[in-house]
Amino acid sequence: MKKLQQLYEGKAKKVFETDDPDLLIVAYKDDATAFNGQKKGQIADKGVVNNIMSNIIFKIIEDAGVPTHLVRQISDRETLVKRVRILPLEVIIRNVAAGSFSKRYGVEEGSGLARTVLEFSYKNDDLGDPLINDDHILALELSTEEELALVKEYAFKVNEVMKKFFLERGLKLIDFKIEFGIHKGELILADEISPDTCRLWDCETNEKMDKDRFRRDLGNVEETYQAVLARVRG
Ligand code: TMP
Ligand code: ASP
Repeated sequence: MKKLQQLYEGKAKKVFETDDPDLLIVAYKDDATAFNGQKKGQIADKGVVNNIMSNIIFKIIEDAGVPTHLVRQISDRETLVKRVRILPLEVIIRNVAAGSFSKRYGVEEGSGLARTVLEFSYKNDDLGDPLINDDHILALELSTEEELALVKEYAFKVNEVMKKFFLERGLKLIDFKIEFGIHKGELILADEISPDTCRLWDCETNEKMDKDRFRRDLGNVEETYQAVLARVRG
C-alpha cells in the first residue's frame, strides 16, 4: 500500500491518500488540544498509544457485529482505514455524570444516572460543537432517519462491548465520544477510541486515567496514557 499525498490534517491526526481510492492512511500525532483548541500541548507518544489502543478496541467492536473503518495497522502510529464520508456528529454515551453533562445540569461528577444517556454534538469547530437533538439533525440533513437509527443502535452496542472490556481491566467507562461515516453506502464506525475520546476511571481508586489529566493539569499525563495501553493490551 503506497502512501500518497496528505489529504487533511486535524488536531490529533493526519490523513493520507493511498494508491487505492477506497483506502486512507491515518497517522496519529502527539499533539493535544482541549476546549476547542484553546489549550494546546504535546503528550509524548500519545499517537502510538491512541493508534494501538484504538485498533485493539475497533477489532473487538467489529467482532461484536458493528462494522468499522479498520483495515490494518501498518506501523506504531499509522493505520490503513476505509475512506468514509464522515457524518458531522459527535455521538456521546454517558454511563456516569461527568464533564460537560455535570456542568450543564449541575450534577456532581461521578453521580450515577437512572439510564444511559446518548447525546449528539454538531461537529463544527466554528460553532464550538453545539449540543443538538434528533430533530435538529434531520432538519439540517446531517444524516438520514435510517442512518440516525443505526447510529444509536451501534452506539449502545459499542457501549456494552467497551464497558465489559474495560471493567475486565479494572477501568470504569464513564463516557465516550464516537464518530461514524459512510463507506460504499454502509454506515461504519470511524475516527478513534482512545484516552482522548473516553473517560476511564480506575475501579479501585477512581483515579482519572484519560485526557482529563491534560485538560485539567492533573499531572502524570504520559504515564497514564502508557498505563491505559498496558491494561488494554492485557
Ligand atoms: P464532555 O463531557 O466534555 O462533553 O465529553 C464527553 C466525552 O467526549 C468525553 O469522554 C470526552 C469526549 N470528547 C471528545 O472525544 N472530543 C471532544 O472534543 C470533547 C469535548 C469530548
Ligand atoms: N479535542 C477537543 C479540542 O481541542 C477537545 C477535548 O478533547 O477536550 O478541541
